[in-house]
Amino acid sequence: MPFNLGDTFPDFACETDEGPITSIHEWMEDKWLLLFSHPADFTPVCTTELAMISKAGPHFAHLGVKLMALSVDGAASHADWKKDIQAVANIPSIPFPIIADEKRDLAVLLGMMDPEERDAQGMAVTCRAVFLVDHEKKVKFVMLYPATTGRSIEELYRVTASIRLTSQHPLATPMNWTPYGDKVMVQPTLPLDEAKKRYPSITVKEVPSGKQYIRMVDMPEEYVLKNKVSADVCNGKCPKKG
Ligand code: BEZ
Repeated sequence: MPFNLGDTFPDFACETDEGPITSIHEWMEDKWLLLFSHPADFTPVCTTELAMISKAGPHFAHLGVKLMALSVDGAASHADWKKDIQAVANIPSIPFPIIADEKRDLAVLLGMMDPEERDAQGMAVTCRAVFLVDHEKKVKFVMLYPATTGRSIEELYRVTASIRLTSQHPLATPMNWTPYGDKVMVQPTLPLDEAKKRYPSITVKEVPSGKQYIRMVDMPEEYVLKNKVSADVCNGKCPKKG
């Protein structure tokens, strides 16, 4: 794993289906970045993942997170493939560029290669990597899945929302937390009297030790999602070409 949490995410130039980018740091502006790789264009799992994350695009934008995909196919292939993804998602456009890393320079730099997976020419391809990078270009979250296991876009949103929320509030999200209005926890470092002033909804769970460390509060309203992140994609009814 080439990155630890808190490491600076490298700046790089890249080719995409939407044209060249000379600096990924500049492209991010003052936003966060969710970069996700996939093994190859025109493959079934990748298509459903990118369709779903495209549909969830406005939710990520609401969090101030820009999306970017990457694979080792070329920019023209990405542009063609996007038409399939649009049809599967039933949306008019895909709200992010796809990096064309044909020489695998970025995949190697970012530790995204999967030696177990090969393309038709026998060349190793990218795994399903995800990086969340904050506005100061620090790595906040890393995930590596093999090609044969599609990612949960619900989970990617959940983790991203948790990290955004807890970067702005002295809160933490408990096990199985979802962003649909579930209670969240006060971080252990915030003294109880301050927590009570800051969060009037606070409740403290009684435990045998008598220590008052399980402190639940309402989710900050700006992070509460009303609609599910993952709507159906395709559902057997992709619009026909033409
Ligand atoms: C897919 O995206 O469907 C896929 C890609 C590589 C290996 C297995 C599945």
